[in-house]
Amino acid sequence: MSTHLPTAYEAEFAGKVALVTGGASGIGLALSRRLAASGAAVVVADHNEESARKAAAELEATGARAAAVALDVTDPASVEAGVRFVVDTFGGLHLAVNNAGIGGPSLPTGEYGIEDWNRVVATNLSGVFYSMRYELPAILAAGGGAVVNISSILGTNGFAGSPAYAAAKHGVVGLTKSAALEYAAQNVRINAVGPGFIDTPLLRDTDGPARDHLVSLHPAGRLGTSEEVAELTAFLLSDRASFIHGSYHLVDGGYSAS
Ligand SMILES: NC(=O)c1ccc[n+]([C@@H]2O[C@H](COP(=O)([O-])OP(=O)(O)OC[C@H]3O[C@@H](n4cnc5c(N)ncnc54)[C@H](O)[C@@H]3O)[C@@H](O)[C@H]2O)c1
Repeated sequence: MSTHLPTAYEAEFAGKVALVTGGASGIGLALSRRLAASGAAVVVADHNEESARKAAAELEATGARAAAVALDVTDPASVEAGVRFVVDTFGGLHLAVNNAGIGGPSLPTGEYGIEDWNRVVATNLSGVFYSMRYELPAILAAGGGAVVNISSILGTNGFAGSPAYAAAKHGVVGLTKSAALEYAAQNVRINAVGPGFIDTPLLRDTDGPARDHLVSLHPAGRLGTSEEVAELTAFLLSDRASFIHGSYHLVDGGYSAS
């Protein structure tokens, strides 16, 4: 699928190297396409190696520089190796999007499985920390850059049945703000994006009345698209967002306005 951009944005990320965790599907894939279409060299990092390779091949077929790396964000050693792969392959790292995430079961807090809690928090919160832990030294070594952490509307709202997901996504916002303070003076901008419910494979098991309920939460009257999230994220990564540090930006069809 091609990404059509206004000419002014076609080379916006030329010379930049980007890492997208969870880049093989949904929001991460749309973002990988968006960054590649604007001239970035993109490393699609995902624990689904086959999908990552397919995504990178698709980007390369458009003429972009791209590569795939198998990476599990719940494993610090895997993340460290993934960042090393990026630097070894493309000579540095400037842009990182920490997007890999999972949903987890829908159960009230008093019934939520301990293992499920640990898995969701390990992926959606610790995974973002591990990623920044190894990305930030590489970004500093490259002279600076930008990071976007993908949180959720559930980074500010609660959601009955999703205690682990909401807690982890709130945590991503706090982590983003703290890291942004630490690196703002070193030419590294770190921000978070909070999507409303987006039509991606993450919602594959949500259909019928459950899906209608999710749609009803958005005054726009529909779920969002991955491309709509990618557009805000690309803006935050770009020099057009040069004074935006440590903030949390919603792209939610009006969910949070009511
Ligand atoms: N879809 C939504 O409604 C929605 C809303 C708000 C926020 N988000 C967030 O957006 C991000 C992307 O979600 P999506 O909807 O595109 O989902 P998706 O399932 O389409 O894509 C997620 C990707 O992350 C990868 N991944 C999962 N666990 C991983 C791990 N441990 N290590 C490496 N890669 C891993 C998966 O293989 C997949 O390619 C997630 O952080 C999600 O929480 C999604």
